[in-house]
Amino acid sequence: MSLLDKFAVAEQLKSGLVKAGKDPTSVVFDIINSATEAVVEGRTTILAGTNNYLGLTFDPDCIAAGVAALKSQGTGTTGSRMANGSYAAHGALEAEIADFFQCGHAMVFSTGYAANLGVLSALLGKGDVVLLDSDAHASLYDGCRMSGADIFRFKHNDMQSLERRLERLKDRASRCLIVVEGMYSVLGDNAPLDEIVALKQRFGASLLVDEAHSLGVYGERGCGVAEALGVLEQVDFIVGTFSKSLGAMGGFCASKHDVLGLFRYVSRPFMFTASPSPAVMATTHEALRQLRTRPELRKTLWSNARQLYKGLQDLGLDLGPQISPVVAVRCKDRQSALSKWNKLLEAGIYVNMMLPPATPGGASFLRCSISAAHTPEQIETIIARFKELQS
Ligand SMILES: Cc1ncc(COP(=O)(O)O)c(C=O)c1O
Repeated sequence: MSLLDKFAVAEQLKSGLVKAGKDPTSVVFDIINSATEAVVEGRTTILAGTNNYLGLTFDPDCIAAGVAALKSQGTGTTGSRMANGSYAAHGALEAEIADFFQCGHAMVFSTGYAANLGVLSALLGKGDVVLLDSDAHASLYDGCRMSGADIFRFKHNDMQSLERRLERLKDRASRCLIVVEGMYSVLGDNAPLDEIVALKQRFGASLLVDEAHSLGVYGERGCGVAEALGVLEQVDFIVGTFSKSLGAMGGFCASKHDVLGLFRYVSRPFMFTASPSPAVMATTHEALRQLRTRPELRKTLWSNARQLYKGLQDLGLDLGPQISPVVAVRCKDRQSALSKWNKLLEAGIYVNMMLPPATPGGASFLRCSISAAHTPEQIETIIARFKELQS
């Protein structure tokens, strides 16, 4: 038995994917034409699986901000903020995020994944308890594990299951963090954050919400599901990413608690990695400005989401439970998902293949995510290609 033997399982997984057609990890966008179109193996392809919700990746002002920062501040920070100092842009973006969420404190991380590891591992320790939604993203689970706290899962969006877990904690409830997402990444469904807030208050627990997929998508100001449900002020920690609606890279935490300022001294995924580069800070800052000042982007996104959901629903497909910019098509089984995903790609449509075990209920999905930058014609084409799969 060697160190390398365990890769036999990964080899098997890979050959299963290759046998069905293309291995999703090997898809290459050779030319990126726009936020919604690329060239794959010489074929013009509609991108329907990008998380580019506001379609800002090719926004001229975001690009100009990134280019200006590259020219004036260089290509990278070459170190962590703890050891190598902060750039003014890091603090400026943190101030903007705190202002956006109207919560007083914000902290920027190098990725959304690092934000979840960094916040959860700083906040929680041995003797603390996490109640984690069963559909929560891997980064939330990894952060909880890294913390050493006791982790209990509750059934996805099931308030009775959460309540039972809280009841069982008795006095430990005051050392409990409830961890959920705003909009869930695979099915596009929302957490009932108003009910979760009521429970956390009743039991004296705390609440962290990952708004990675809901930032810029939900809420009057675009803050996410907590804002949309009127409970933003009651959430203890909001985490999120710059890599989806803001079209850049990086992550953040926003909080009303002064203690967030101390995370800088104890959060290892913040302290021991290079800080985000000047170009990333600048494009993110400009994208956030656009998110705040162009509500029409959100309006177009929702109109596009409704068009795609309705169109696929009319085909009789088994979809996620609510209209959302994430539209997940449930497939009969793994083989069917693999085959349909390949046929769509050959027909010029790129969607995400979501296979167990990283999926709700262990099912297989073709996950579409729609953007404000998609045209109605592109959406009709996506629907038409799904229809062709049925014949
Ligand atoms: C819910 C959720 N949280 C965090 C992340 C990690 O974000 P990033 O890819 O920016 O590191 C993701 C990424 O897919 C996500 O879906």
